[in-house]
Amino acid sequence: MACGDTDDQPHTRTEGIYQHCENCGDSGAPAADNAAMMLLVPSDVLRPRRVDEHFAAEADAARAAGHQVALVDHDALAAGEAHRAVQRVPAGAVAVYRGWMLDCNSYAGFSTAIADRGTRLRTGPEQYRRGHELPGWYTTLAAFTPVSTWTVGTDRTAFDNARQTLGPGPGVLRDYTKSMKHYWHEAAYIPDLADGPAAWSIAQRLSELRGDDLAGGFVLRRFEQFTGAEVRTWWIDGVRRLVTAHPDTPEQVPPADAHVPGLAIAVAGLALPFVTVDLARRTDGVWRVIELGDGQVSDRPATTPAETLIADLLSDPGKVG
Ligand SMILES: Nc1ncnc2c1ncn2[C@@H]1O[C@H](COP(=O)(O)OP(=O)(O)OP(=O)(O)O)[C@@H](O)[C@H]1O
Ligand SMILES: [Mg+2]
Repeated sequence: MACGDTDDQPHTRTEGIYQHCENCGDSGAPAADNAAMMLLVPSDVLRPRRVDEHFAAEADAARAAGHQVALVDHDALAAGEAHRAVQRVPAGAVAVYRGWMLDCNSYAGFSTAIADRGTRLRTGPEQYRRGHELPGWYTTLAAFTPVSTWTVGTDRTAFDNARQTLGPGPGVLRDYTKSMKHYWHEAAYIPDLADGPAAWSIAQRLSELRGDDLAGGFVLRRFEQFTGAEVRTWWIDGVRRLVTAHPDTPEQVPPADAHVPGLAIAVAGLALPFVTVDLARRTDGVWRVIELGDGQVSDRPATTPAETLIADLLSDPGKVG
């Protein structure tokens, strides 16, 4: 079994430059052995025939490596207009998306609309949900991450039950997909889970700030004291392929000892095509999982070249040593 803990070397690959079609975003790459994997990226909102600037380097890297690249309309996907969103996507490929976050229903519509065009998203909708939302991965990674409970919806009774299940002491609040970490004392950190009214006011602020984007319900987590920057690890088919800085701290080189014993087997057990796992060092020196996410919507730190990520993401794992 591949342990997945050492393979973060860059991989060689055949390179080729293809003319980018301005109409559909297709690279025009020939059907080489690696060209069947297509990269889908969001189009620019104002210039829909161009790649959204945030993902342009990854699109360029994919084209240069001989992959097809096609544009999707992220706003149309998020609005539930998936068929309109994917009308530039050609048929006959397996596709990986790199783009802005989508809620699980939008992703399901995306997957169906792509399939209707004769192409397949490598990550299916059920897989996306298990990677994107904490309840989907928590049980499998429970030994490696702060103890967590959650509610379905934003009802106060359910919140109090979840809070009491965790017991007293400090906690951290988020929803199934995101925290409001930049509003730490207002909407994320709960000084004492035993203080019901104070905890509920934090929860209400989270609801207010997340608004319609609030995903699933409340997630309450036991607070653990971390030190230093987070590390982002990238996994393809359950194998760790790349270790980078976290996008919030791009200049922080990942420490060589950022390792969680047993994690590789657990991540492989999730059987997800492409995920990221963020790690942080607890003050007692133990590396812990902060969160797992779907790799398609995980931001790349500015210090990781697009070529590096694309090489790991789109290459055939069977060819990597
Ligand atoms: N249980 C915990 N104990 C202490 N700190 C925590 C805990 N959970 C999260 N944090 C802190 O809160 C931050 C945000 O949490 P988390 O990564 O779950 O949310 P996020 O908004 O999805 O982040 P990202 O921007 O990485 O997507 C973490 O980077 C970490 O610093
Ligand atoms: Mg995070």
